[in-house]
Amino acid sequence: MMPLPYASGLDTPLILAPMAGISEAPFRRICRSFGADVLMTEFLSAEAIKRRIRQTLEGCEFDEIERPIGIQIYGADPQSMARAADFVTETYAPDFLDINFGCPVKKVVKRNGGSGCLRDLDLVERIIRAVVRATDAPVTVKTRSGWDQERRVPVEIALRMQDAGAKAFTLHPRTRNQMFSGDANWDEIASVVEALDIPVIGNGDIHTAEDILRMKTHTGCAGVMVGRGSFGNPWLFRDGRALLEGRDRPPAPTARERFGVALEHARLALRLQGDCRKTVIEFRKHLGWYTKGLPGASALRQRLFQIESMSEAEQIFQQYFEPVHTAA
Ligand SMILES: Cc1cc2nc3c(=O)[nH]c(=O)nc-3n(C[C@H](O)[C@H](O)[C@H](O)COP(=O)(O)O)c2cc1C
Repeated sequence: MMPLPYASGLDTPLILAPMAGISEAPFRRICRSFGADVLMTEFLSAEAIKRRIRQTLEGCEFDEIERPIGIQIYGADPQSMARAADFVTETYAPDFLDINFGCPVKKVVKRNGGSGCLRDLDLVERIIRAVVRATDAPVTVKTRSGWDQERRVPVEIALRMQDAGAKAFTLHPRTRNQMFSGDANWDEIASVVEALDIPVIGNGDIHTAEDILRMKTHTGCAGVMVGRGSFGNPWLFRDGRALLEGRDRPPAPTARERFGVALEHARLALRLQGDCRKTVIEFRKHLGWYTKGLPGASALRQRLFQIESMSEAEQIFQQYFEPVHTAA
């Protein structure tokens, strides 16, 4: 299989999934430091880009150290998508541009955005062709297996996207109507790998380093994309790489290491997203994830979910190591 156009020197690149509200610059950089080879922005609306909405444009920004990175856009109007592609290419020069055909959220699919397009594959083709014409960056696509069980045709969708000019194809093998229920059907990824000439990225239900290795061996995919499994666990990239290279999995991070990375992540968030209450409130979820599975985690999480400043989190972490917990 061809290598990914934006990561050609890498064997089985590990990709941090685009995730709204999560794959922002601070978390991207943390994941990169643990071995995420490719990063992506969260999905950004072509209409909002056209209207130069500040928050959306901020979502397009990245630092040079984040390369290779892709900007992901979505929308149902080929012309708006082309204009957005042209603008983000000229303004931000990402390593690739990804089109989101997977988002299942009602607000998005109602206007045929995200996986809404999967009900009309002619429209999908027009969108891809328009975007390909508008940018000189490689255009990639990320999609689900279909709209619903009756229209579950991943290979047909994949072939049409390839014909329209996509340079890589990511499949999250669930239908739109499944949202996140049931299991991701990795056999469908294998079928798409078989059918396409362009590289295929496997995505869906990667929770452990073993899952990364299994995704590779089960499907023969060119790259593995990790979403929810990375929450509070950027070590997943390091561990997955070790297994792919036939090495032993490194020892799991200690509580101190986890807190250390959580605080490093917190400092990045304050620096990059503003030292304000909003940043702290939005960061609470990450603190909860970093402490998952630790002895006393639920009490810890309850306290972390109430912090109003990052220094409170630091204090809570320090208190964790006072004698009552070190015995645990
Ligand atoms: C909170 C959240 C936000 C997401 N946002 C996006 C997005 O902006 N663009 C996109 O293509 N997929 C998005 N996804 C889907 C993920 O990229 C991925 O396809 C899905 O979570 C399956 O992978 P996983 O099982 O490893 O999490 C999102 C998923 C979650 C959980």
